[in-house]
Amino acid sequence: MTAQIIDGKALADELRQSFKARVEALAARGQRPGLVVILVGEDPASQVYVKNKVNGCLAIGMHSEKITYDAAVDQATVLKKIAELNADPAIHGILVQLPLPKHFDEEAVLEAIAADKDVDGFHAENVGALAQGNPRFIPCTPYGVMKMFEQGKVDLSGKEAVVIGRSNIVGKPMALLLINAGATVTVCNSRTKDLAGHTRRADILVAAVGKPKFVTADMVKPGAVVIDVGINRLPDGKLCGDVDFVGCREVAGQITPVPGGVGPMTITMLLANTIEAAERKAGIR
Ligand code: GUN
Repeated sequence: MTAQIIDGKALADELRQSFKARVEALAARGQRPGLVVILVGEDPASQVYVKNKVNGCLAIGMHSEKITYDAAVDQATVLKKIAELNADPAIHGILVQLPLPKHFDEEAVLEAIAADKDVDGFHAENVGALAQGNPRFIPCTPYGVMKMFEQGKVDLSGKEAVVIGRSNIVGKPMALLLINAGATVTVCNSRTKDLAGHTRRADILVAAVGKPKFVTADMVKPGAVVIDVGINRLPDGKLCGDVDFVGCREVAGQITPVPGGVGPMTITMLLANTIEAAERKAGIR
């Protein structure tokens, strides 16, 4: 049987439409939600992501601006800008696009962002709150995946969940969210011994490993929910996920495509976090 496709693009569009009323309600109180995205360097993929983040905000009536620095900028300059933005009442969310150039101390930069404007959810305070099961800002990609489970009425309680990938951006927070939802969670990586032995037990399989078509049909339990977080560019210029979609959709029960799956949900949840930051400030939440 062919798997049901989880349409992230459609869900993202629906959510973004629903955000417009919240944005206007905030604007009426003088708190139009504002997001600043900081980009250091000229990484082409980061440039596209940052443009999409800013445009995503503008499309629903939010304020957004991009601040760009040459790759050689010193960290102190970026930290000074973050301090200014922390104090700016018109800005509710601050995002520093990762990765940063090698001479940066990434942790120091992320910790410099005020925790109540950390719409990425990467500040240690926010990571700690998530680990304790009391999240304030949930990192956008795993947050988007949780929304997809919600929409697909995927019951996570008691299920075997396997996450491939252990990054701070996706793998670790994804595992925490699944734990908080009552799943039995295994976190693997590309070097896990007998990886297929783990993945074949998974009712829920999340691939966030950054390797094209890494998950093949023989690794998937029949009927499993397969979530593909990967965005890989093939030599022919086409995008492809971490999952061999054509093979796996014949085994899985539900599966996300690339493009049109998790990708559009990531920016949607960034908008959600920024709106929520503004609502907290306005005393609505
Ligand atoms: N680089 C890749 N994904 C992300 C993300 O979700 N947030 C930031 N800040 N940088 C990223």
